[in-house]
Amino acid sequence: MTRPIPKAELHLHIEGTLEPELAFSLAARNGITLMYRSADELRKAYAFDDLQSFLNLYYKLMAVLRTERDFEDLADAYLARAAAQGVRHAEIFFDPQAHTARGVPIETVVAGLGRALKAAPARHGVTTRLIMCFLRDESVESALATFESARPWFGDPIIGVGLDSAEVGHPPSKFREVFDRAREAGLRRVAHAGEEGPPEYVWEALDVLGAERIDHGIRCVEDERLFLRLIREQVPLTVCPLSNVRLRCVDHLADHPLPYMLDSGMLVTANSDDPSYFGGYVGDVYDALEAEPMLMIGVDELQLLAANSFRAAFLSDEERRAYL
Ligand code: ADE
Ligand code: ZN
Repeated sequence: MTRPIPKAELHLHIEGTLEPELAFSLAARNGITLMYRSADELRKAYAFDDLQSFLNLYYKLMAVLRTERDFEDLADAYLARAAAQGVRHAEIFFDPQAHTARGVPIETVVAGLGRALKAAPARHGVTTRLIMCFLRDESVESALATFESARPWFGDPIIGVGLDSAEVGHPPSKFREVFDRAREAGLRRVAHAGEEGPPEYVWEALDVLGAERIDHGIRCVEDERLFLRLIREQVPLTVCPLSNVRLRCVDHLADHPLPYMLDSGMLVTANSDDPSYFGGYVGDVYDALEAEPMLMIGVDELQLLAANSFRAAFLSDEERRAYL
């Protein structure tokens, strides 16, 4: 086997790395009965019509995550898999509201994830950053309260905020105040936009929220002015091709706009999003891109995607030099 290309992963929801087998072992540890008889049966439920149908299962399965150790085990399992696929640096999303709404305190979540992340350089050879996302289909008040409750961890381990969950009908501008507060607190800012939602949401994420990276952003191809702006300003896009196919944002991998975006000079990266649900970790994503002949992606393009991943990462210049 050839050695995987060293890369950074910049679009990864830690809750989306929950493999069916781990879900069953955590359920057993916590005395929870799942509505599936086996890991195989659960995996068969991973067939989605759109983003919402995925989110329904994704949030439901989080019921197995209860203790600090559960979150630590989840993150450690991801980091081991990512390292085996060439990941050297991972910027990891988590959804605090999805846990606090179930009665799991944010302290439990951050302490568990934080422990795995702290051990990752020595244990897996992976450096990390942690980004807390607001659920855009929840209220602004809930996002503000979540933001304030996380202040003890600003800077370490939480270095940024993001925006995720059901996109259509929940424009970025709804979250202007909480993103303003994040900027004042010195946090980095990213937002999902242009996954299922229209190009206007990408404009808003940039101009209203001050997003420094756009997560997904593939619908930028529908808006020439936006497309040219993203190239001119070298706004990083964290694209997730396998996710886009599984959630039917793109019909077939062969139709994915990633090569067009890359060839046009956009700062595009390739990522896994929710690897347990969408058919693979980021090394698998690179392999799938290379294996689809219609995409015309070879080793040079994969090397460019990997270099872009370090360029777009929230690393200091000195840290970046060590990777590039
Ligand atoms: N949360 C987890 N995965 C997501 C995705 N692909 N889009 C929006 N929210 C998400
Ligand atoms: Zn995502």
